[in-house]
Amino acid sequence: MTKRVLVTGGAGFIGSNLVHYLVKERPDWKIVVCDLLTYAGNLENISALLDENKIDFVRCDIADASNVEDLFSNYEFDLVFHLAAESHVDRSILSAAPFMKTNVLGTEHLLSAAKSHAVQRFVHVSTDEVYGSLGETGRFVETTPLDPTSPYAASKAASDLVVQSYHKTHSLDAVITRCTNNYGPYQFPEKFIPLFISNVLEGKPLPLYGDGMQIRNWLHVIDHCRALLLIAEKGIAGEVYNIGGGEASEVPNKEVALKIIHTLSASEDLLQHVTDRLAHDRRYAIDHSKLENELGWSPTVTFDQGLADTISWYQKHAAWWEHIKSGSYREYYEQNYGNR
Ligand code: NAD
Ligand code: TYD
Repeated sequence: MTKRVLVTGGAGFIGSNLVHYLVKERPDWKIVVCDLLTYAGNLENISALLDENKIDFVRCDIADASNVEDLFSNYEFDLVFHLAAESHVDRSILSAAPFMKTNVLGTEHLLSAAKSHAVQRFVHVSTDEVYGSLGETGRFVETTPLDPTSPYAASKAASDLVVQSYHKTHSLDAVITRCTNNYGPYQFPEKFIPLFISNVLEGKPLPLYGDGMQIRNWLHVIDHCRALLLIAEKGIAGEVYNIGGGEASEVPNKEVALKIIHTLSASEDLLQHVTDRLAHDRRYAIDHSKLENELGWSPTVTFDQGLADTISWYQKHAAWWEHIKSGSYREYYEQNYGNR
């Protein structure tokens, strides 16, 4: 039987990569993207699939319960991949309310609809940021206590708990995934890697927060998509699965910035240390051995190769990000970086 699949946030970065991946890997699935098309949503990311009628698109605000109910009544989904979210830490510091509305309330609306429409599996895409910050050693495991720092991370941690409550109370078949920082094609250029690549290409300064020695555990988006499909098909209901890029992709921000500069033969003078982010998490690193041992997943893209491919993608798709970096993006840039 054909699976009827909902991808929320499918016009965003990871969601659009997931939709492309699912169409390729599961061509008989009927895929519907629901997305509000906020500043971060971009139909261009999936326009080829829409033009070929390979997927359906519904504009829908998950924070509006009636929008969500209409969607579930019209399609009757078997499987939901939930990625729609306000996703940028710096924006959550400037204004937290949209994060609570979409990430917490929006998730509850989807869970409620999934329950009443007998969805068979709900995959909730969360983040390692719910665990807070690490010191110089150690890695997050699935049982690490939740200790979020930013309003963004707090909203994701809250949504994880709501998902768990639906599993425990209503026996909803739900799994939670917690991945590390993603990178790859179609990432909105407010996030570190696409911002720095596009700024170098424009000859603009690279605003490195604080000393630049914070560590992120980079995961190529295609490895993330592989993990999500595997967990959707083989994961155990009620479980949490960490997804990480592996030890070799734990890299300090300054080193990432220098790799981008050197790959593009630019000057190191572009690096500009600016005032640190408030409550900036120092280090993230994930132990993904549960996913590796139980479901046989491990990352395949090395950070050096993935970064080189990503730089090349942004060079070839300048029109995509140049368009984004005009308009309201400029207001945000001024607000976040103007006084640093
Ligand atoms: P993104 O910001 O690129 O995309 C989010 C999408 O959600 C956009 O298309 C936006 O229009 C849509 N959206 C926002 N509010 C909505 C609403 N109220 N109703 C419907 N759609 C709405 O984010 P991303 O980087 O692709 O992240 C996807 C998911 O993965 C998020 O849940 C995020 O928390 C999680 N995540 C991301 C990363 C990362 O490195 N990017 C890491 C860990 C977890
Ligand atoms: P980001 O892409 O915002 O992801 P997250 O905060 O969710 O990890 O940032 C990644 C790292 O890069 C983080 O340590 C903050 C840092 N950073 C900068 O130094 N300068 C910037 O302009 C941005 C956006 C991020």
